Amino acid sequence: MSGHPNILVFDSGLGGLTVLREIVRARPDARYTYAADDAFFPYGQHSEEAIIGRVVPLIGELIEAHAPDLVVIACNTASTLVLAHLRAAYKVPFVGTVPAIKPACAASKTRRVSVLGTSGTVKREYTRALIRDFAQGCDVKLVGSAHLAALAEAALDGTSVPDAAISAEIAPCFVAGDGPGSRTDTIVLACTHYPLLLDRLVRLAPWPVDWIDPAPAIARRVVSLLGAGSGQTEEPGAEMVFTSGRRHRLSAALTPYFGGRVPA
Ligand code: DGL
Repeated sequence: MSGHPNILVFDSGLGGLTVLREIVRARPDARYTYAADDAFFPYGQHSEEAIIGRVVPLIGELIEAHAPDLVVIACNTASTLVLAHLRAAYKVPFVGTVPAIKPACAASKTRRVSVLGTSGTVKREYTRALIRDFAQGCDVKLVGSAHLAALAEAALDGTSVPDAAISAEIAPCFVAGDGPGSRTDTIVLACTHYPLLLDRLVRLAPWPVDWIDPAPAIARRVVSLLGAGSGQTEEPGAEMVFTSGRRHRLSAALTPYFGGRVPA
């Protein structure tokens, strides 16, 4: 591997940018390719078979085209299904994104945690196994959101998204219990799109909660696999690929996620 590792970050759409942002902070010297499978978005609406059949060969094509040193699957809906298949099929190391149930349950004081993900992610056996293994006695509520990922894409694209639409998607996460000491205090952001809306989630929450974003932990995992790097920042650019073939036209909105560089 050269001094500038090549990291491929993959998601169904633009949500993986919230993971990319943390990895770029940790390894500003790396070269990045961000691939969005927008032609198949949203993954939350597809069957498990359809996602496996789509993602495994697509990642093979992306590896062939971009020769990454490491691939980050920055999508819970895909990671909870395809990681084992990808590791069996390709030699490159993979880092996945799965619901951060263990740290959320460890941190909750009221022992009431909600997991907000796509309807696909909350149905997965993988997610249910995480709850069985790591709930640590917490009451964990799974909340599948049909629209929040698309709303986050729309907001990033500059479309006005009404507060009421966001509030309706997050409302089931808030369980009142018998008062402040027993109500939900921690919500896992189990879809990489949702941190795109974090300011609004905080503002619209019926009461304050901790929102758990797994991106910093994913960046630490990348560093543990690739090393800390040279720290030099004359980084070798970045590229954005859409499976629909469209060109991105969001430079001003996207550049912060790429650590200030303008993706080609
Ligand atoms: N960003 C994806 C995730 O983390 C899913 C959004 C979608 O395609 O439904 O689950």
